Amino acid sequence: MQRKWWHKQVAYQIYPKSFRDTTGNGIGDIRGITEKLDYIKDLGADIIWLSPCYCSPLADQGYDISDYYKIDPRFGSNEDLYELIREAEKRGIKILMDLVINHCSDEHAWFQEALRDPYGERAKYFFFEKEVDGHAPNNWRSYFGGSAWEKVPGTDLYYLHLFDRKQPDLNWENPKMRQEIYDMINWWLDRGVAGFRIDAIMNIKKTFPFAAWSFQPDRNDGLSTVSQMISKAEGLGDLLTDLKNHTFRPHDAFTVGEVFNEKPEDLPKIIGEEGYFSTMFDFNETIFGQNNKGWYSWQMITPEDYKKCVFETQSRVGDRALIATIIENHDEPRGVSHYLPEGEQTVEAKKLLGTLQFFARGIPFIYQGQEIGMENKPFASIEEVDDVSSKDQYQVALQNGLTEAEALKVVSLYSRDNARTPMQWDDSENAGFTSGTPWLSVNPNKDVINVKAEAEDPDSVLSWYKKMIRLRKDAVYGDTIVYGTFESYLPDVPGLMSFFRRGEDHTLLIAANMQREEQDLTLPGEVKALLLNNGGALQIEGGRLHLQGWQVVVLEI
Ligand code: GLC
Repeated sequence: MQRKWWHKQVAYQIYPKSFRDTTGNGIGDIRGITEKLDYIKDLGADIIWLSPCYCSPLADQGYDISDYYKIDPRFGSNEDLYELIREAEKRGIKILMDLVINHCSDEHAWFQEALRDPYGERAKYFFFEKEVDGHAPNNWRSYFGGSAWEKVPGTDLYYLHLFDRKQPDLNWENPKMRQEIYDMINWWLDRGVAGFRIDAIMNIKKTFPFAAWSFQPDRNDGLSTVSQMISKAEGLGDLLTDLKNHTFRPHDAFTVGEVFNEKPEDLPKIIGEEGYFSTMFDFNETIFGQNNKGWYSWQMITPEDYKKCVFETQSRVGDRALIATIIENHDEPRGVSHYLPEGEQTVEAKKLLGTLQFFARGIPFIYQGQEIGMENKPFASIEEVDDVSSKDQYQVALQNGLTEAEALKVVSLYSRDNARTPMQWDDSENAGFTSGTPWLSVNPNKDVINVKAEAEDPDSVLSWYKKMIRLRKDAVYGDTIVYGTFESYLPDVPGLMSFFRRGEDHTLLIAANMQREEQDLTLPGEVKALLLNNGGALQIEGGRLHLQGWQVVVLEI
């Protein structure tokens, strides 16, 4: 594998709206990020991925862009962003922007123009279709619920939106549209961004003609998820190659794709030496237990399932590339609430989960607050929820016979708002996030879980993340952690997740006891060094390692 500058790095995702507000309007801003650069530097992360902060009506919190070239005034100005890039660079930190190019906002000038002249040039940037028998062209359901088609008032036309109706899909078949997107990407690269996280990108290739693609309804709303059509589309690779050649490749940009449901044989085309992207996220754990029916029917993941998902990804990717590892992001519940069983959100278990992420082969992406062990937010009523998809899923649950209390419980388990509550900097009223009223209320556990308290505590989750990052950059062990092969050890022992990382000069054994009960395991060799331990003294007797509940150790063997 050819070595790249980004292999050894650790990335940190910022959701600007919830990170740090310097103006008191209750919404985080770019200057707030600049203010916290030293914190990120001290943590040890070297890449920051910014969720969208472009002009947007915020129907989907910025994933609906109305001007690709301009920072939304609520987040600051372009000058603020350039300053952030400069200040980050001084600290050796690179900035990735979020690239949302499957769709834009219905308030984007292109779409406004298209609405004024639905048969004109600009309309060809989108998908406008004639109604069929007075109805939408087919029965696709958008990802956020309801039809994927929205009627254009006063016409017999509908436009396609895979996500919210305020997010019309862009027509990637149109070379003029593509060129405008490429120009915009190059414009940002010329301004010093190091690359992009690429949103919903597997959706840009559609199947045609649309009217021929009606599917069996998969819920009682008579609709069928649009992902069926996407999974049948042919020719995505040509579009992605064209995109890369016109933009990322000439700039040697770092790119991470939001890739779901790829066909296993496509993996080498997606990432690796000649891949469309530098890397992509490992969503194997994220999608475990999901189906098309809705959140109310999803199956919760157990530690055993989690282990199988990670091992499966690692064997699929092998050593041909480095995948981007996560336990959470702005679309998911908090990892420690989701992957650790209910009631097990202890400091030790949180450290264990982070260790499994950081020592799997890949590039770790931390989501803001993960490093202090932030947890899901309890919701007292659906009125407290902001997220479009959570509101839809609440209704889906009710329609399927759940009571309001049960539906709220489902939303609490999966809501994207869990990850979007303000960052907890200290234990003050608004957790040091804002002096005003936060746009989404702060998690009451900020009294205990916050940066200030954890920075002073050598045994905190935050201090553990710092240790893990230092180790990844360590002169002796760094190469093994980044490039070493991954090999499972005793995969069939319940409650145990252990694996080797074998490098040229060192072999590490990571052993994690994912349960409350203690357990022993036979060591595969003599212990040369103890690199990390979240529990008490290391207990080895007669070649057996004894682990306390939720203990994890990283050993050199
Ligand atoms: C991606 C984003 C998500 C957004 C969607 C539509 O999945 O991560 O937040 O809602 O795309 O842009």
